[in-house]
Amino acid sequence: MSTTTATHHDDHGDHGHPTGIMRWVASTNHKDIGTLYLWFSFFMFLFAGAMALGIRAELFQPGLQFLEPEQFNRLTTLHGLIMIFGAIMPAFVGFANWMVPMMIGAPDMAFPRLNNMSFWLLIPAALLLIGSIFVPGGAIAGGWTMYPPLSIQQGMAMDMTIFAIHILGISSIVGSINIITTILNLRAPGMGLMKMPLFIWTWLITAFLLIASMPILAGAITMMLTDRHFGTSFFDAAGGGDPVLFQHVFWFFGHPEVYIMILPAFGIVSTIIPAFARKPLFGYASMVYATSAIALLSFVVWAHHMFTTGMPVAGQLFFMYSTMLISIPTGVKVFNWIATMWRGSMTFETPMLFSIAFVFLFTLGGFSGLVLAILPVDIQLQDTYYVVAHFHYVLFSGAAMSIMAGVYYWLPKWTGHMYDETLGKWHFWLTTIAFNITFFPMHFTGLAGMPRRVPDYALQFAEFNMISSLGAFALGISQLLFLYVVIKCIRGGEKAAANPWEGAEGLEWTVPSPAPFHTFETPPTVK
Ligand code: CU
Repeated sequence: MSTTTATHHDDHGDHGHPTGIMRWVASTNHKDIGTLYLWFSFFMFLFAGAMALGIRAELFQPGLQFLEPEQFNRLTTLHGLIMIFGAIMPAFVGFANWMVPMMIGAPDMAFPRLNNMSFWLLIPAALLLIGSIFVPGGAIAGGWTMYPPLSIQQGMAMDMTIFAIHILGISSIVGSINIITTILNLRAPGMGLMKMPLFIWTWLITAFLLIASMPILAGAITMMLTDRHFGTSFFDAAGGGDPVLFQHVFWFFGHPEVYIMILPAFGIVSTIIPAFARKPLFGYASMVYATSAIALLSFVVWAHHMFTTGMPVAGQLFFMYSTMLISIPTGVKVFNWIATMWRGSMTFETPMLFSIAFVFLFTLGGFSGLVLAILPVDIQLQDTYYVVAHFHYVLFSGAAMSIMAGVYYWLPKWTGHMYDETLGKWHFWLTTIAFNITFFPMHFTGLAGMPRRVPDYALQFAEFNMISSLGAFALGISQLLFLYVVIKCIRGGEKAAANPWEGAEGLEWTVPSPAPFHTFETPPTVK
């Protein structure tokens, strides 16, 4: 290190720790960065949720009310992109920042400065995505999957989206390298791999999935960029290319991506259920192997998103059976969660309620996934609301509700205060009921043939759509209660005990750290 850098080195000496706004901008503290990730994710969740309400307002009754068809499609595109890359993924990275070092007994993440960069890259990416609404031509309207040929023809919003996704990819890859290095190198003495909390395992595997899949998405959108501006024809049939190639490359990323959004959820739920059942997790080793099996299988199922693109039957059958295979390790997990609860001394505080709802509703989403895996059925249901119902059961009652479970579970640890249990339970029941009112009817409209991504529909779908829209507004408003409970907990309340969940056995918040955080001046080096 040169002398210039050494003299300007902020982390040395007593004037080291930045205060005020610089505490956040220049933070290398995993807890502060975790908090930044979680708040960023929450605002994106509200923003993309507001877009969903725009969609549901338009679909409240048949005919066009508020939106032009193009605007409607922009809303569905940005709702998907922002929920995935802005809300769910950053929330899980926020959990990783807060909990990975504490659970393995490390003083911080392995690369604290890189950690800072991972977070702050999200801001320009979000600004580009949101800013694409305001450029000539408006935000992209082709759906979050950005299929050509439409995406080759769209305006500069597409270039902004490509740039945003490149930045998000860099952030994810750098963050994953940080998480893997932390887990593999900074565990407390004696913590072997098979002694790590399951949350750590799920994040370790997720980080490998991210490193393997994000560059593939980057490749797909770079080929898209050169098709748009540099005269190539990867996806352009007029120049000898093939638009279906994009779908193959995209879904080779896209299917592992859905497991990136669910494996950390498995980790959170596998932490909470044993705590409130007062029993150790049933089948720890099988959980580790099942998670690894799901991750490996997730790379050989991608074309189940493309059954109607004209594949050879042998290919269709391969992807049908490989998709069905994933239900085996997933079934192992569901079995283990239920076996953990079996004959336990259960109590039903808010985190446990969200976790039990997760097990039940995520499994429902898994079942509709199995239905969609069946080739002849999928050909009927392709691009209908049945698919929309399926992936919202997986991503809302799966990913999003596990995030809520984790927030309630760890809020006492993070803030030092107990949250308001009564309001937490209200939030749980309102969310769960409103979620089902919103998305369950979509199974029926989908089976009856209502196509997705269309702002209008035939009269026979009117009742179910009205029910879905009412549920959606209730679901949206319920999340303001969540915001209120979190802010109230941060600002004060009953002091949390070292272990707030009384009687919970085998519940280790943290492994004692070799050095308390405030004495930790320089990034750790692996010896
Ligand atoms: Cu898939």
